[in-house]
Amino acid sequence: MNHAAHADALVFFGATGDLAYKKIFPALQAMIRRGHLEVPIIGVAKSGFTLDRLRERVVASLQEYGHGLGDASSGKLIGLLRYIDGDYNEPSTFAALREALGSAHRPAHYLAIPPHMFPVVIDNLKRSRCAMNARIIVEKPFGRDLASARRLNKIVHTVFSESQVFRIDHYLGKEAVQNLIVFRFANTFLEPIWNRNYVESVQITMAESFGVEGRGAFYDEVGAIRDVVENHLMQVVGFLAMEPPATTHHESIRDEIVKVFRQTRPLAPADVVRGQFDGYREEHGVAPASNVETFAALRLAIDSWRWDGVPFFIRAGKCLPVTATEVVVQLKRPPVIRLAPGKGNHVRLRLTPELSIGLGAQVKIPGEELIGEPIELALVHHASGEEMTAYERLIGDALAGDATLFARQDAVEAAWTVVDQVVDEPTPVHSYARNTWGPAAANKLTTEVGGWVQPTVSAV
Ligand code: BG6
Repeated sequence: MNHAAHADALVFFGATGDLAYKKIFPALQAMIRRGHLEVPIIGVAKSGFTLDRLRERVVASLQEYGHGLGDASSGKLIGLLRYIDGDYNEPSTFAALREALGSAHRPAHYLAIPPHMFPVVIDNLKRSRCAMNARIIVEKPFGRDLASARRLNKIVHTVFSESQVFRIDHYLGKEAVQNLIVFRFANTFLEPIWNRNYVESVQITMAESFGVEGRGAFYDEVGAIRDVVENHLMQVVGFLAMEPPATTHHESIRDEIVKVFRQTRPLAPADVVRGQFDGYREEHGVAPASNVETFAALRLAIDSWRWDGVPFFIRAGKCLPVTATEVVVQLKRPPVIRLAPGKGNHVRLRLTPELSIGLGAQVKIPGEELIGEPIELALVHHASGEEMTAYERLIGDALAGDATLFARQDAVEAAWTVVDQVVDEPTPVHSYARNTWGPAAANKLTTEVGGWVQPTVSAV
């Protein structure tokens, strides 16, 4: 339940940037289409733009990534838009912002800007009195290791209390990721088997068939573990492994997630295999001798009553054969091997590009012999249509003050604790050919469970 007051203005820093163009404007348009957005939207950037130029960019963004210009939503979005062009170091930028906020006194400030600019923007928000009663929405990466995440949290907390901070991890806004909670806790048949007594292993694969797509300079500072493992895939682990929340109040869910992270053993170098696709070093913005990983495979252990001894394998990479994120929960096989050769049952949860759930079962092969063969029952397949994008949901929730789907400070720090050692002292990086499943060295991690399970989507 959420009793927070709705924000009465949305301010976003980085208004002329890539994230705004690809995700934020389309999300705002979608909110308007559903009647969910009435407040003024104030873009801030230092680009030499005018409001008219920003409006042109919004139009292009909606045509390329949003619902186009076919209905009234684009006009309404443009009408709600204000723009301030100015340096984030200059008090005058924030004085202009205060003025543009007018009678608004509960603004939400969205920092769609590189993290090194957070301190100066936060400080200036305070000095200009724009931070009073405000919320702050920040994008990942939230720090680059445990120490820097702690520093950043300290800076944020000099001005904003934790209840005013909304850390975006857009994976949490995905319909299919939220479904993990419903699927797990709304199904009586699942809970009794969702533990070390029945589950043999859990695998999570986040495969992307594309490379760094012009983000070489950003990516080379980050790498796969910081880019998607520490945040998106750890959150998926949290939803898969958590205990039933005491209530659906947002802090209950976040309390359970943080417990999982704290029970996860910090990764040691032997738990991780890093890879880099051939040609990565020639990408624009990438250092010629870069050792940054574009692929990571790792084995997590969760030291809890429920999960003791069950390995959680994670694999994420660019330039792999398909684009799909899938979870496979492998159950232990029954004792009568002749009836059911091979593995036991599994639950397959595809999270992207669309939600699908499959149940691996054994059925009798027609014929004289009493012997089974594996089949997969498709439980559900929801193709994305009019459903909310992650950004639409998350911006809406932040404006409404509902923090359920945002990463809390303790969870962020606990997740960094898990990966800290392997990001600060990276292991060797193995090269792999594009369009393959990463370096062969990654296969060693899963030998004990019969290897990696490939996602079911076909290559495009
Ligand atoms: C982003 C990463 O957070 O998530 C990208 O920076 C990655 O590298 C992206 O491609 C994947 O998100 P989605 O929603 O497209 O699966």
